[in-house]
Formats: sequence, C-alpha cells, structure tokens
Amino acid sequence: MCGIVGAIGERNMTPILLEGLRRLEYRGYDSAGIVTLDQRDNQLHRVRTVGKVQTLAERLQQEPARGSLGLAHTRWATHGEPSERNAHPHLSNNSIAVVHNGIIENYQELKTKLTAAGYQFVSDTDTEVVAHLTDQHLRQNGGDLLAAVRQTAAQLTGAYSLGVMCRDDPDRLIAARAGSPLVLGIGIEEHFIASDVFALVPVTQSFVFLEEGDIAEVQRERFTIYDRDGNAVERPLSYAGQMGGTAGKSGYRHFMLKEIFEQPTVVAETLEGRVHQGRLLEDSFGPEAGPLFDQVQGVHIVACGTSYHAGLVARYWLENLGIPCTVEVASEYRYRRSVTPPNTLFVTISQSGETADTLAALRAAKERGYLTTLAICNVAESSLVRESALTLLTRAGREIGVASTKAFTTQLVALRLLALLLGRCHGLSESDETALARDLELLPKALERALALHEAIERMAESFAEKHHALFLGRGPQYPIAMEGALKLKEISYIHAEAYPAGELKHGPLALVDADMPVVCVLPKDGLLEKVLSNLQEVRARGGELFLFADSEVDTHLSGVSTHVLSLGAVPESIAPIVFTVPLQLLAYHVAILKGTDVDQPRNLAKSVTVE
Ligand code: F6R
Repeated sequence: MCGIVGAIGERNMTPILLEGLRRLEYRGYDSAGIVTLDQRDNQLHRVRTVGKVQTLAERLQQEPARGSLGLAHTRWATHGEPSERNAHPHLSNNSIAVVHNGIIENYQELKTKLTAAGYQFVSDTDTEVVAHLTDQHLRQNGGDLLAAVRQTAAQLTGAYSLGVMCRDDPDRLIAARAGSPLVLGIGIEEHFIASDVFALVPVTQSFVFLEEGDIAEVQRERFTIYDRDGNAVERPLSYAGQMGGTAGKSGYRHFMLKEIFEQPTVVAETLEGRVHQGRLLEDSFGPEAGPLFDQVQGVHIVACGTSYHAGLVARYWLENLGIPCTVEVASEYRYRRSVTPPNTLFVTISQSGETADTLAALRAAKERGYLTTLAICNVAESSLVRESALTLLTRAGREIGVASTKAFTTQLVALRLLALLLGRCHGLSESDETALARDLELLPKALERALALHEAIERMAESFAEKHHALFLGRGPQYPIAMEGALKLKEISYIHAEAYPAGELKHGPLALVDADMPVVCVLPKDGLLEKVLSNLQEVRARGGELFLFADSEVDTHLSGVSTHVLSLGAVPESIAPIVFTVPLQLLAYHVAILKGTDVDQPRNLAKSVTVE
C-alpha cells in the first residue's frame, strides 16, 4: 500500500504535497518522493529519500523543488527494496513522471518489450514500466498525454491508481484508477489528486471520487473524467461536511476503518509508561496491586462479546505461565452458582465500562469471596472502573464504530501486561520477562505491517460478498482470534460465520465444507502450525476455498486456485494474537462495504449495552 498526492494550480505546491504525504503515511513510509515542474526552467525537479516523509521534508530544505504542478508519493515496498532508486516518482527520459499505488502484475512482460525498444530501467519496481510505456505512446501519438496514459492503462493488468505528468505539458495532470482508491480535490483555479480525502482536507472540502476504470484529465481551471470506455462522465461531488463528519473520521470513510488504522498508535499509548526497556512497571495496576498480585493463585475473567474474546486469549497466556484461569460470559456468570478457589483475582474486561451484564457480574463477584477485583477498561469515568478495586485503563481513545476493534487489541495488550506481571510472581525469569516485554514493544510496527495488507484484503473480500456462511479456524490462542474474526464478519456484514478450533473440524463441521463455504484461518509460526496445516489439508480435500493469513516464515505447502495466502511478516509468537486480529477486522470491514451495510451502526446493535 502506498499513498499518492498530486496538485496543479498557480501557487507553489510543494508544501501542500508534503502535508498530503504526511497525512498518507499510514499507507506506507519506507521511502518518499516528490517531483515538481518548475516554470522558471521548465525542468522536472525530483527529490527522493529512504524513510519517512520527514526525511524528505528535511532533504527539501537543502534541495528545494518548487512548482505549481507536482506529484508526490509515500511508499510501502512491493517490488524492489526500499531505496532511493526504487522510490517514486519514476521518470522516463526526464520528461514523464509517474506515481503509482498498487501492483502491475504484467510488468515483467512489459519490461522485456520496453527493454527491447531501447528503454533503460533504473529501478526494480513494477511502476517504472508505466513511465516508459507512457513515454513510448506519447512519442508515437504526437504528444497527447491523456491518450498516452489511456493507451498505457489499457496494457496494464493488476490493481493500481496512477498520477502522471509531463515536462512538455505543463497544464495538465492525468489520474487513473483501477483497483486502488483515488479522489480528486476541487479547489478554486487549482485541483488535486490523492489516495485518500484526508490528504487534501487542509486545502479543500470538495471531492470527487474516481470510479473503477476512470481516467481524469486534471487542469488548473477544470477537470474531465472519462470512464473505462473513454466517455466523458460526471461523478458526484462530495463535501467533507457531508461525509458524516469528516473531522471526526479524519477523512476515513467510516469510524471503524479509522479505528482499525489507529491501532498502532493506541497500542503504543497503552504500553507507554508500563513497559520500559524490557521491564514491566508493577505500578501500572496501581500501588496496591503488587502485594495483592503476589498472593494471586488463580484468575477468573468475566466479560461480554469482543471483550470476552480478549479474556479467552488471556487464558492461554496465563495458563502458559502456570496461572490457573477461567473465562466466562458475564450474562452466564451472574446467574449461576460458582465456586471461588482461594486467592482468585476477579477480572472484568469492558470497552465502555457500562455493560449491564458485566457490571452485574462484578457486583455478584463482590459477594463471592475473591481476593480482589480488577477492571480492564477504556473509560476512566465508567461505573466498572469506579466499582472495581484495581484498574488498568486501555488507552484506545473514544471508540465510535459499534464493532469493537482498537478496544480489543488494547485489551489484549493490557491482558498481556497482566499475564507477565502475574507470571513474575509465578517464577517467570527476568530474562524471559525481558524477551516477552520486548516483543510487546515490537507491536506498533507489526500492526502497521498488518495494516499494509489493507488493499489486498479489500480484493480478497470480493470472494465473500455473495456467500451466506463462512468458517474461521484457529488453534491455541488464535482460536479466540478466529472467534473474534467471525463475530466481526457477522455483526457488520450479516454473513453467518462460525469459529472452530481447527482440530475440531473433523468432529462434525467438516460436513459443511464445500466450494460455497469460505474458510479463513490464521497461521502464526507456533508449535501448532503443522497440526493446523494438516487440518487445512482436510478442508482442501473437500473442495473448500482457503483464505489464510500467515507469518512470512510459514511455508503452507498449500497452493492452487482455491488457496489465498497473505503474509503478515515475521510476528513473534507472544504477540501474534494481537497482530493477526487486524486482517480479520479488515476483511469484515471490506465485506461489509461490498454488501452495502451500515458499517458503523450495524442493524440491531448498540455500542454500549446498558440493558440486560
Ligand atoms: C462487538 C462488540 C460487543 C462488545 C460487548 C461488550 O464488536 O463491540 O460484543 O464487545 O457488547 O461491550 P463492552 O466491552 O463495552 O463491555
């Protein structure tokens, strides 16, 4: 996933392009670049740097590039390592400049032909073929940039959005969309393009979203959009204010998407001041927690919905460290007689801290002889926090999307901290604690890598839109993650989804598997991997289509048209449940978009369930 921005007007566009890139950095930041056409010398000025947009901004101080026409790009590498040579914009003959988001699947074949025609390639990217092809068509068609881009686009296969400009054509910018998002920003005597509205909010509130196959000719005073057949078409104008409060959504289409993308930040905030240089700070749970934690011999977790799933993951973590743990939904716990073993810590988990069943469970627990009560909660002022003896606040910020996302991953972080602190009292060595705490510090980056799968998952979602059922599989601590993935899909896309521990399939659910039942599975590199792979072979043998999210070090030994694998990079086992949650959230989101449901406020649900 990459971000692109382009601008044409009268003023110097460099600061606008840079600000746009900063706002698109969530899409990738291994390198960045800008090209401008400076009217003073009629030359393209290109500056590229490895690393974040800030590095590019600093380089531009020494090596200014200015112009009223320009393109910029922030990259997340697909073809070719992150390097200056591979950073966009890519040029052809110092005359054509291209920025690209997506993947050109047939670039190798095009490269061979262009090389034979005398073009020299200086990068390892798929994008460079677009620059040379455009140049080739431009020379052949007598200098019509729009026609050249149209001819080029017709030869490309894959998913992409493009911004193209030409040194010899200072009055236009061409934008093309086929599979990756692109929006036009409408100004007064100036126009813009970007991968996302958010990039352009500082300069305009009026937007036109390009549709699949559209090519736009963008000039200072006007723009014209052509559909895939070359017909000039009108696309509706959208205003930032009408997009349901763009300010609140920061330019994202839905709060849920915004909240999914906030996870690296809020996870880092939840860790802040609680883990330092590989050590956990005991005071995170309050000054009185330490002596109480020393006495804990077992944990009883009670919660609802997504928060319950977080508790189920914690059971694997706690018991792995030798701490007995049971987990239960609050609506069951509150009405049954339960047995409280000595020195048991009662833990509630809740985003809102107002869920009626969870609160009632806490009140019941206080009569049942627990050592003490701990709330893991996102709202400091909530009833749950006020009524619990100990608290660990998640710092997810306000969660507005009804389907919980960032609250869940921050709950998992909080539970991981709890497990390690209790583990310390149960013989976890200092070196093991340090290694596990360091894993936690890797989380924000690992989550960003998972988010970079956004567009690939958007394409994957198409396979689900017409389905009525889906199966989610996982083993060990990934089983609750599969449950959470199934819940997300159910609640926002209304597709019936079930989660199973992969080993349980053969005991019945395998009967459901056929070509109409997509099977989703998370595959971290852990001790259960080979077992899960065998379970997946059983699915394949029954004609099931597999959608796998795997650690990059996992060789699935599975291939073929009915197997789709996306890699999340190398993820340490101890944090894998947190990271592998993200692609399942994105999958549910994109399926819901395709189904046209109300993503942020799915039918029949409410954000905070304060009734029984
Ligand atoms: C699902 C979801 C719900 C909540 C549940 C508990 O996406 O959001 O299942 O997790 O209603 O709510 P809290 O965490 O506020 O107690």
